[in-house]
Amino acid sequence: MEQIKNYIESNKERFVTELVDLLKIPSISADTAFSQDVIETAKLVEKSLKEAGCTTTEICETKGYPVVYGEKIIDPKLPTVLVYGHYDVQPPDPMNLWDSPPFEPVIKKTELHPDGAIFARGACDDKGQMYMHVKAVEFMIKENVLPCNVKFMIEGEEEVGSDSLEDFLKENRDKLKNDVILISDTGMIANDVPSITTGLRGLSYVEVEVTGPNRDLHSGIYGGAVPNPINILAKMIASLHDENNHITIPGFYDKVEELSDADRALMAEAPFDLDAYKKALDIEDVYGEKGYSTAERYSIRPTLDVNGIWGGYTGEGAKTVIASKAYAKISMRLVPDQDPDEITQLFMDHFTKIAPKGVKVKVSPHHGGLPYVTPIDNIGYQAAAKAYETTFGKTAIPERGGGSIPIVALFEQILESKIILMGFGLDSDAIHSPNEHFGIWNYLKGIETIPYFYKYYTELAQG
Ligand code: BES
Ligand code: MN
Ligand code: MN
Repeated sequence: MEQIKNYIESNKERFVTELVDLLKIPSISADTAFSQDVIETAKLVEKSLKEAGCTTTEICETKGYPVVYGEKIIDPKLPTVLVYGHYDVQPPDPMNLWDSPPFEPVIKKTELHPDGAIFARGACDDKGQMYMHVKAVEFMIKENVLPCNVKFMIEGEEEVGSDSLEDFLKENRDKLKNDVILISDTGMIANDVPSITTGLRGLSYVEVEVTGPNRDLHSGIYGGAVPNPINILAKMIASLHDENNHITIPGFYDKVEELSDADRALMAEAPFDLDAYKKALDIEDVYGEKGYSTAERYSIRPTLDVNGIWGGYTGEGAKTVIASKAYAKISMRLVPDQDPDEITQLFMDHFTKIAPKGVKVKVSPHHGGLPYVTPIDNIGYQAAAKAYETTFGKTAIPERGGGSIPIVALFEQILESKIILMGFGLDSDAIHSPNEHFGIWNYLKGIETIPYFYKYYTELAQG
């Protein structure tokens, strides 16, 4: 595998150009106006798998956007790595906060990326990280050092909840059969602090609608005498946390796994610079659940956050009006052993119950996902750890992440394999935000590290 360094040196410009081409297509899965672009992206991903040396490639239709499949089977008796990633991206808005257009990638240096970073929607999440795998496999195939079989499954609906994927997994169990699943769709602590993600939070996402009077009213003629749905919604939302920032929905914490003091002490050993954290976000203080550290709040603890809230008059100037309706989108991040369907139900019951008599409340569930925690006493984790050791010269730190990849828990349930999350992005890479970027160094380091995972995994699997 040592020749990977030379291979990268001779091909790095092409690796970057190819990724730039992939980033130019606005594959926004949430917005149907871009559906043709999403499909174009799937085709380009398939082409790239073919060019990398996959012997079989296929665009698999689902009830939503297609899954791109590719494989290179060198010997059915050898282990098989299944690579998962997604080619869809988040909507880029708010557009005016981008320093350069989201689908016209540019390379710029930043403080954390002195070698330059590619700025574009999807650069880190997940086109850049997914494409590292395509290039790593290209290297192993072209240089005849692929030690085991590889399958790719790259989907186009991750950012909207992977709705079609459960059926796809169930219908394609044989085709997707593997020994370990490898994913780069998370982050690492810092470029000199490699880490391996050992957990993801689950998700329950709801939209609420509060209706007061049957029409918008003059706020002078009626104000003070009728239920104002915006006032009431604000009050209801505020009541969902108590003075210690605990969530007040009855039963919400019933299934939350409390970590032992020993586990929490181990977690606290991972480097975390609170001052740098606050400085990077320009906040004077952090805010969260009493009794837990910042790192615990964003990883091992469940949350409830309003993601959007609207209603009434928001245009220029003032309009004196009491709106008929108010709305909010609310996400709850879940931890083991919370169940998204149960939590959604608890939310619905509670939110309906706390509404005053004068309003009607409607709660509509959106997508959800189960939390996931992976043990580290398996050869997949060990192979990843050895790979980081080799290319970073440092021991990777196991770390539970705060984000969600809903399909991961289903992978374990349906395909019965362990999932290894080797992320190379940084929290500051602004995924889902304006000016998303991915360090060139990170991109190439990923391509360098991945082949070692294959090498060590195959060695460990063969005892
Ligand atoms: N790649 C992210 C998830 C992620 C990012 C996990 C960083 C850990 C660290 C993924 O694309 C994502 O954004 N997931 C969504 C959930 C989905 C249902 C929209 C999320 O976490 O909000
Ligand atoms: Mn992602
Ligand atoms: Mn994402």
